[in-house]
Amino acid sequence: MRIRNVARGALVTAALLSGGWAQAAGDSAAAVERGRYVVSTSGCNDCHTVGYPESGGTVPMEQWLTGSPVGFRGPWGTTYPANLRLVVQSLDEAQWLRTARREMRPPMPWFSLRDMSDEDLRAVYAFIRSLGGSGGAVPEYAPPGVAVSTPYIDFVPRNLSNRQAAR
Ligand code: HEC
Repeated sequence: MRIRNVARGALVTAALLSGGWAQAAGDSAAAVERGRYVVSTSGCNDCHTVGYPESGGTVPMEQWLTGSPVGFRGPWGTTYPANLRLVVQSLDEAQWLRTARREMRPPMPWFSLRDMSDEDLRAVYAFIRSLGGSGGAVPEYAPPGVAVSTPYIDFVPRNLSNRQAAR
């Protein structure tokens, strides 16, 4: 009798556990899909995926977010959109939340990530991780005045005093 109760207890525990697992798997599939949606509608691919804007957003998902070797040069120096596929591999979820909420150099719209809900940031993390690591590290940031050997896009503000007139 006692043994039977133990066995029954074990069965109930196993059933609860497997229910929990199924739930977790369902949650993570939903998070991955939500993350894909947030990434594709928030413009992350504009900078972090080579050729994405030029192709009208048709770059295959396997190539998304592998970073760009083309720098953005401005008064901040020259920055390169990071390879997010590698970045998420090296961070756990809590570290990702902290990294994503840091102030970053232009033209990264870091304030968009700062203002994203924890839930969406976690979903973005789940999605990017689901793609796996891919590609190489992008070139190092170069401070203002330091020459770079990579191609770059110059951000040169012009006629700023005409801004009002242009409106
Ligand atoms: C206009 C171009 C641009 C867009 C759009 C953009 N990024 Fe970035 N991102 C950059 C650049 C450039 C850097 C490097 C900044 C630096 O060196 O400080 C960067 C850096 C980052 C980093 C820091 C990586 C690290 O390890 O330091 C994260 C995380 C990031 N971007 C995530 C995103 C996400 C998520 C989106 C979409 C919501 C996005 N970015 C949209 C250009 C962009």
